[in-house]
Amino acid sequence: MTAPIITIDGPSGVGKGTLAQWLACKTGFHFLDSGAIYRSLAYGVMQKNLSIDNLEPIIELAKMLPVEFKATSILYNGQDITSKVRTEEVAAIASQVAPVPEVRVALLQRQKDFAQLPGLVADGRDMGTVVFPEAPVKLYLTASAEIRAERRVKQLKNQGNDANIAQIIQDIKERDERDSNRKTAPLKPADDAFLIDTSNLDIDEVCQKAESILWDKGILK
Ligand code: DC
Repeated sequence: MTAPIITIDGPSGVGKGTLAQWLACKTGFHFLDSGAIYRSLAYGVMQKNLSIDNLEPIIELAKMLPVEFKATSILYNGQDITSKVRTEEVAAIASQVAPVPEVRVALLQRQKDFAQLPGLVADGRDMGTVVFPEAPVKLYLTASAEIRAERRVKQLKNQGNDANIAQIIQDIKERDERDSNRKTAPLKPADDAFLIDTSNLDIDEVCQKAESILWDKGILK
């Protein structure tokens, strides 16, 4: 029996991670945070002091990336880097290494290996288009840049940080532009993806919508 796969793609800040973890809990499926793999590579690039202008050693590192996922922790060479990969610095490097075609090829099988019984919820940018094109359920989340920026500002304020909304909107738009226009695995919905616009929905409403799709598709019984 092959493991059923639910893919969740969309731009950053749209709520994919929250929905993916909720669905993984609801279904009892495994969870793949593919962005965390790119972030772990970026961590390795920083740790080894590699230059983004010399791609060869970065591609070699991607082929042998010493990263493991244990429950909710990310281990790099056995060391817990779960919170270290969440910094803006790591995100910036991840977004520079992620468009490199050889890096994506090197990380492809590692992502496919997550497809194990009883099933998988896979969160990323190209889960439904490149990594798991055979997935029976593909969700694609969208929300306007302004709404995503407002959510980010709220999150930063809750953490006690200042936030400049205009700057955040601009950063989000630039990142969307880069992700959507890159040559390899650009951010776009698969032809057979269900689109969910989360702009005017709270997280519970997004989860309910996704859940009803899983019932319709026979994933939940
Ligand atoms: O979702 P995230 O912010 O953790 O992703 C980190 C970076 O990796 C971001 O620049 C997008 C990139 N990424 C990607 O290119 N493909 C994926 N499947 C997941 C993330």
